[in-house]
Amino acid sequence: MNHIESLFEKLNADNAPGQEKRQNKNDIEIKGESLEGIFVDFSHGDVDAHQPLPESIDYFNEGFSEIGSSQAYTEYRGLSEILTETAEKLSAFTGTNINPEEELIITPGTQGALFLAVGATVTRGDKVAVAEPDYFANRKLVHFFQGELYPVHLDYLNHNEKAGLDLSALEAAFKDGVSTFLFSNPNNPAGVIYSSEEIDRIISLSNQYDVTLIVDQLYSRQLFDQRSYTHAISHPDADREKIITITGPSKTESLSGFRLGTAFGSPVIINRMEQLQAIVSLRASGYNQRVLKSWFSEPDGWMDERILKHQEIRDDILTLFREAGITVRTTEAGSYVFPKFDVLSVDCITFSKILRKQANVVVTPGTEFGPEFTDSIRLNFSQDHQNAVDAVKRIITVAGYYQNEP
Ligand SMILES: Cc1ncc(COP(=O)(O)O)c(C=O)c1O
Repeated sequence: MNHIESLFEKLNADNAPGQEKRQNKNDIEIKGESLEGIFVDFSHGDVDAHQPLPESIDYFNEGFSEIGSSQAYTEYRGLSEILTETAEKLSAFTGTNINPEEELIITPGTQGALFLAVGATVTRGDKVAVAEPDYFANRKLVHFFQGELYPVHLDYLNHNEKAGLDLSALEAAFKDGVSTFLFSNPNNPAGVIYSSEEIDRIISLSNQYDVTLIVDQLYSRQLFDQRSYTHAISHPDADREKIITITGPSKTESLSGFRLGTAFGSPVIINRMEQLQAIVSLRASGYNQRVLKSWFSEPDGWMDERILKHQEIRDDILTLFREAGITVRTTEAGSYVFPKFDVLSVDCITFSKILRKQANVVVTPGTEFGPEFTDSIRLNFSQDHQNAVDAVKRIITVAGYYQNEP
């Protein structure tokens, strides 16, 4: 296999969230009966069940019909007026002061921001620490930019008041020359929040060993049970030259279809990200940038209501899994559960295909989030409540058909 082939072999998106429709499920043999039920795609949230703000389309139309060319062709990092307004909102949210001209970029989705941030910090042979499990793209981005991966274990199942990152392993990786640490907080897929002590330690290690932090905070607005959240960028010891925070309106706000994201922090890295954006997509869709005006400007009570609805779905799903004896950590933030099926006779990729064929349900195999998670699946529970509950019941029934013999 030549170099380019082996590079893309590692990027393999066959089992990535959203790609299931392309899989062939005909080769899967099933045990037990096929279960009827309304189709649920747990690989992403359902924006019909949890709709975007109606104002979002008005802002798009304003960009398209009233503003026109200057909105279509913005500076690569985004239209100055939108940058200013978004910087103010993100500053208030994260408890810091973001300079709109130097420290912020608007990207095509949070995914776009991730690509640019890794591309702006990692080059061939650089050592990069990633949490495991963590968002499926993180490891692939490091591969693509030819960095060397340093996975750091996140013991999410055995803690309640912290995410469970192995901080000694993180320090060992930093000592060994890691130059960038990339992680999501809240964590996707485990749904856990890093405690203030964990963030404290990560900041102090990054200062001690001169490591750049890329923190993906996409789910940091959707916190359950009144939990607190520590923004790394507003930590008193944070070196702003070494932190890039990434977030966007795709999840809690259901604006994913507009493909909008943001990154803010180190002016040097933001500047590099703009250079890279100039050769990837030029800019985030111009008309869509205007939709950011609806972000953090939701009507009173809208966010609370949205979070409460998700918390109720979470509670029902956790109860079902636990009653069935399946191990799962309580989601503290975001819309994911990551149950672990200890006694399955098939691996999670096969189980996901079985679920599609036999239970009319799409889930994401655990191995997308780290090679060791062969007995876990990830569900995005931002779904119609009843449909999600019914679908989880089907998952549990099917899991019963594929139990290992004792
Ligand atoms: C942690 C995390 N980062 C980035 C993304 C990509 O988000 P977007 O739709 O804004 O590109 C996702 C989507 O699932 C995510 O969960």
